[in-house]
Amino acid sequence: MENRVVIGGQWGDEGKGKIVDTLCRDLDWVLRYQGGANAGHTIHIGADKHVLHLIPSGALHDGVKCLLGGGMVIDPWSLRDEILALEQKGIDVRDRIFIASTAALLMPYHKRLDELKEEQLKRKSIGTTGRGIGPAYLDKIQRTGMRMGDLQLPAENLERKVIEMILSANETLSTNYDAEPLASRVLAEELVVLAKFIAPMVVNPYEVLKGVRQGTESVLLEGAQGTLLDIDHGTYPFVTSSNSTIGGAMTGSGLPPRCFGEINGIFKAYLTRVGNGPFPTELLGEQGISLREAGGEYGATTGRARRCGWFDMVAARYAADINGLTGAIITKLDVLDDLAAIQVATAYEVEAERLPCFPVDGNILSRCRPVYQEFKGWEKPTSECRRLTDLPAAARKYLEFLEAELGTLIVGISVGKDREQMIWTDTGVTT
Ligand code: IMP
Repeated sequence: MENRVVIGGQWGDEGKGKIVDTLCRDLDWVLRYQGGANAGHTIHIGADKHVLHLIPSGALHDGVKCLLGGGMVIDPWSLRDEILALEQKGIDVRDRIFIASTAALLMPYHKRLDELKEEQLKRKSIGTTGRGIGPAYLDKIQRTGMRMGDLQLPAENLERKVIEMILSANETLSTNYDAEPLASRVLAEELVVLAKFIAPMVVNPYEVLKGVRQGTESVLLEGAQGTLLDIDHGTYPFVTSSNSTIGGAMTGSGLPPRCFGEINGIFKAYLTRVGNGPFPTELLGEQGISLREAGGEYGATTGRARRCGWFDMVAARYAADINGLTGAIITKLDVLDDLAAIQVATAYEVEAERLPCFPVDGNILSRCRPVYQEFKGWEKPTSECRRLTDLPAAARKYLEFLEAELGTLIVGISVGKDREQMIWTDTGVTT
């Protein structure tokens, strides 16, 4: 079985949860390679809705082992709550969850610092999820943070280390933000109790992935957020603090490139963004609102209304190239069912001058005006379609255009929330 990577091709919220859930069911492992509880991966099974923030979206399959990779920042309080919530629904995951000892430990002070930094930035704020992601990665990169492996320390050593960390964070809170300190002893005691719950799941990721390296076990590498939120390749500074693109799959898992088979990019049939930052194809009026309502575009993590707009092919082509996609999956096609006309941005202009490609400078992107190509809508329901030939001709035309412009085969089309509402095609959508 070939290994797979699933990467968001846009600004996150492309519907990766459902795709990961489907593509990993015959594999041995599913591995989240970056990010933290800022992600919200939703999977609908019948009437049940599961929202996962830290646990990989393969968790709903009995036989799939889940690894929270070393590239992640993990809030142990959230992780415990997520595991218990799944267990309450009768999904036993504790003996299938493995946590890389090298993953960064995200503490309550990281969340507090995230909030305070955003308040300080005022009009220039990023619009983060408030989950402490930036400050936790900052601690990792400046080599001062704790790692999940620390939860395996003897209780007294862990408690001492945590108190030290909290006291140091308290200094930053008071010096930089004039903010109240956190109760170091209470938090340290809580973490020692939590460690008992979590430590048995902490592993050496190099050791547990031996079978994958040797080719006797298979893995799906699950990305969170999306290409345009990547710290290096996204619309900086309005990005998250990790590498959501293909490079992050390598560093966040520790697997070498030869272990990567399929690289699937997930793209919504239109475009959304939460948080601040440039969005050239954003629809600011009624059309944007009706797209939001039709697509249920509210954040799974924060409940925030998502900004909505047309598919941006300039950005999508960039995502296909940066990640070296071997296939694309288009989601939420059914959300466009009622529209009489659909637009796709095919180029950008700045002051009437056409750009040759996606500008990696966020300042330039904010000045870009999209050049649109219009497509006729199909104005028919697609949610019952299960084969390409079931789709209305205009929908196929739209997909054929996306495939040609992306330069990679469209291998799947999602036409609804449910696992079954998918059209799979090995040979693309172009006949
Ligand atoms: P952070 O990752 O919480 O620091 O937020 C940084 C930016 O990434 C903000 O614009 C967030 O709204 C955005 N972001 C983070 N996680 C997600 C996600 O899972 N989906 C969509 N946007 C996200």
